[in-house]
Amino acid sequence: MAVIIDGKKASGEILRFLQLMVADIKLKHNIAPTLAVILVGDDPASKVYVSKKEEMAKKIGFNSLMINLPDGTGQKEIAEKIEELNQDDEVNAILVQLPLPDYLDSHALINGISPMKDVDGFTPYNFGLLATGKESVVPCTALGIMKLLEEYNIQLAGKNVTIVGRSNIVGKPLAHLMMAKNATVTVAHSKTENLKEHTLNADILVCATGKKHLITSDMVKEGAVVIDVGITRGEDGKLAGDVDYENVKEKASFITPVPGGVGPMTIAMLAYNTYKLFAIQKAFPEGSK
Ligand code: GUN
Repeated sequence: MAVIIDGKKASGEILRFLQLMVADIKLKHNIAPTLAVILVGDDPASKVYVSKKEEMAKKIGFNSLMINLPDGTGQKEIAEKIEELNQDDEVNAILVQLPLPDYLDSHALINGISPMKDVDGFTPYNFGLLATGKESVVPCTALGIMKLLEEYNIQLAGKNVTIVGRSNIVGKPLAHLMMAKNATVTVAHSKTENLKEHTLNADILVCATGKKHLITSDMVKEGAVVIDVGITRGEDGKLAGDVDYENVKEKASFITPVPGGVGPMTIAMLAYNTYKLFAIQKAFPEGSK
């Protein structure tokens, strides 16, 4: 029976710490970090994620600027909005919620965010720093997974890691972070042949596909650490991960639940990155590393 990795507890500690830092700065300087979030259209999942981000901002004491643009808003109009936020000294962090509707060029829009305000670490500049092993703003979910492993003293050096999912949001940045910690990383994806061969080889298995219960217990090595990033709502209305949790937890040494595992850490890392950008811009002390 695995140790259940408690993302809610770990994220709560980080958020409480940041809340104190923000309260202190507010008291002494009468300013607070400002996070701007752009949501285009009304994708139900994105709306839920954005409202969680707004809730977090309020709780921490950040100023939040929620910009909800209707589906059909033009590329140029969104690019101009981003540029306006880049130029606004009151805005410290900018997030464009993904996925954007198909008619938009996401890459060009993300590229338009100032790297100094790129709270997701998605711009080519920040991603390039990450890929070359330099200090940067790190994508929130990948950073949240690294913090969880650290919290539970799970070592990466020399370990075989398999990441299932090669997205720019999770799989690719996480592979770089784990390589930097001397893990041997395999990135599997929808075209991978013999997926089970790769998952069975993993001391640490991360799954970020959004395919409910893709990972069954026969695909997991005895004693592996299993990190589940996927979150889907089943026909029964319940949230489910990429991992068949009930059976896999009997075989793993550590496992993240869904919900309550990686999800809350993404939000905590968004708060951390917002504070970090603000602190760099204003030359205040940085938060917890
Ligand atoms: N969509 C799913 N995860 C994320 C994220 O971490 N950041 C943004 N901007 N969009 C997302």
